[in-house]
Amino acid sequence: MSVYQIAVLPGDGIGPEVTREAERAILAAADEFSFEVKLEHWPIGGTALDQFDTPFPDATRDACLAADAVFLGAIGGPKWDHETGSRRCEAALLSLRKALGGYANLRPVIVPESLVESSPLRAERVAGTDLLIVRELTGGIYFGTPRSSTEEKASNAMVYSRGEIERIVRIAFDLARKRRGRLTSVDKANVLEVSQLWRSVVTEIHNAEFSDIELEHLYIDNAAIQLILRPSQFDVIVTGNLFGDILSDLAGTLPGSLGILPSASIGGKVGLFEPVHGSAPDIVGKGYANPAGALLSAVMLLQMLGEMEASARIQHGVVKALEDGILTYDLGGTASTLEFSNAVLEHAFTISTTTV
Ligand code: NAD
Ligand code: IPM
Ligand code: MN
Repeated sequence: MSVYQIAVLPGDGIGPEVTREAERAILAAADEFSFEVKLEHWPIGGTALDQFDTPFPDATRDACLAADAVFLGAIGGPKWDHETGSRRCEAALLSLRKALGGYANLRPVIVPESLVESSPLRAERVAGTDLLIVRELTGGIYFGTPRSSTEEKASNAMVYSRGEIERIVRIAFDLARKRRGRLTSVDKANVLEVSQLWRSVVTEIHNAEFSDIELEHLYIDNAAIQLILRPSQFDVIVTGNLFGDILSDLAGTLPGSLGILPSASIGGKVGLFEPVHGSAPDIVGKGYANPAGALLSAVMLLQMLGEMEASARIQHGVVKALEDGILTYDLGGTASTLEFSNAVLEHAFTISTTTV
């Protein structure tokens, strides 16, 4: 029987609320498909800062590096927003990502038929949307040096080396080949040298290795509007760290809520799985955070472990629960976190959640 060690980092705000549901799904999947998971909790973010005086304790980093996969809820919140430098919750998340090394952050965005009406955009525009944002995660302006800050002046540098661009772009082209054969690369090559290098490396790799893939280049400002005007025409989108961060939140409007977007960071020592959303301080503790993004991140985690059937069943459960109209508040419904995830588990597995 396969045994998997999963480091679970619930974090702050609604992080623990949605992580709990992802864990239930993973445990139910393990039960049904006869594999074993060891879920060990580790502190990160504001909760860790309060308890251990650092948002990223060494013990958390070591446990993550020793695990088969890492699941993270969310970090940050107003209580810790005054912190600076390495005491910031966000810095802890960036250190975790860097330590694990997963430079390719996959953020799929699907608008199932059942959510077409939840979107703030017109139904005919969002129907059929099935795209994948491949965001570079361990470089760019988030990590570029020099970086500096004084009372009078602060600066960050958007830096990409040829090697960093080549590896993320190859992953994106590969994924496009397995999907609908189209790749959109997003940059700001009309202004930034770093984007000019990005664009020419994408074009070189396209010509040399992936000429069967249909490639388009868009500037980030235009990409933002095209994502809203013609979302269903995108297949794979590849872009740098900052542009990918912004585009993926924007893409959350397509299905109606950021709360349903999952992510997986691959290519490093250990895979990291986290919903795209943050700690949602405005709804924490109310019991109606949407756990779909976390559940779909668990789907991606199980896929990475090779537990394809278990993964597909949870995904099926999410789709079915949405089809049944079990919608949380962010999607215009009245279901609680627990009601939604109970519906998912009932569809996914032969268990009755009334006893869970
Ligand atoms: P956010 O994603 O936390 O919230 C944005 C909006 O979306 C809020 O109105 C929130 O209620 C809603 N929302 C988000 N997730 C939801 C869910 N699962 N169900 C229902 N509604 C949901 O972004 P923010 O408010 O800009 O950031 C809050 C904090 O979270 C900040 O400290 C930020 O740095 C942090 N953050 C962390 C992560 C992460 O841990 N990966 C990601 C983004 C933001
Ligand atoms: C995300 C978040 C993070 C990011 C923050 C919290 C560091 O917004 O995962 O999208 O910018 O990458
Ligand atoms: Mn973000």
